[in-house]
Amino acid sequence: MAEAAGGRPGRPVVWVNCAASLDGRLAYAEGVRARLSSPEDLVRVQRMRASSDGILVGVGTVVKDDPSLRVHWELLGEPPGRTPARIVLDSHGRTPATARVLDGSAPTIVATAAGCARTFPAHVRVVAAGRSRVDLNELFPRLYGLGIHQLMVEGGAEVIADVLRSGLFDRLTVYYAPVVIGGTTAPPVAAGPESRNDGDAVPLRLTGLERMGEGHVATYEPRRASSDRDR
Ligand SMILES: NC(=O)c1ccc[n+]([C@@H]2O[C@H](COP(=O)([O-])OP(=O)(O)OC[C@H]3O[C@@H](n4cnc5c(N)ncnc54)[C@H](OP(=O)(O)O)[C@@H]3O)[C@@H](O)[C@H]2O)c1
Repeated sequence: MAEAAGGRPGRPVVWVNCAASLDGRLAYAEGVRARLSSPEDLVRVQRMRASSDGILVGVGTVVKDDPSLRVHWELLGEPPGRTPARIVLDSHGRTPATARVLDGSAPTIVATAAGCARTFPAHVRVVAAGRSRVDLNELFPRLYGLGIHQLMVEGGAEVIADVLRSGLFDRLTVYYAPVVIGGTTAPPVAAGPESRNDGDAVPLRLTGLERMGEGHVATYEPRRASSDRDR
């Protein structure tokens, strides 16, 4: 991930990555996990994880999928290397006690909002950032201060929406699987508040398109300047 462009002083370089159906869904109805990545994409994702200092998800993903957020070195055909921190956005301490991210097998950071009374195992670092909900503008500089300079955001829909809308990202990659999920309750790539006009939408610039096994990966960067919009 070292090649990710952009970044801002005082916050990590942030790379958002997800796998979606052709109609832009991250999972099946009601958020039931869908294994959308092709084998080639799984390797690409592990490569991204391996070159990150931290891998971030929302508590919704922890509850639905119970991911390990570990680097699967066996998929890379390499001996185990550095271990990125696992970071969960969990304002009110909803992470199940049995969640794999709390198993102590890798450094874990839980970001909470002020006043969260939940206690976590001693090996978990708790970072309070935000009043009623985790505030990314507070959290990302704190993560940077903890040595997380390359941050991979893996989802889910609410977290991706907040990261994109806050503008605190440098690159978005979406693996599109050749499948249509449809329906009304399957989570989209980005959820969160409604967009009512151009001002609410997040303009992006396509910077790469690559076949990845049966699907393809599209890479986008934020349109940072108004002149960018006119290109
Ligand atoms: N295909 C893929 O690549 C992929 C990857 C990951 C997940 N998924 C899917 O995504 C779905 C989960 O997505 P989701 O939208 O339900 O959950 P999510 O985005 O993983 O987590 C959302 C929760 O995170 C907490 N949160 C704390 N601070 C936040 C902030 N600043 N912005 C946004 N959220 C914040 C909120 O709970 P509190 O208010 O309690 O803090 C919020 O409800 C699952 O179906 C999973 O399978 C798919």
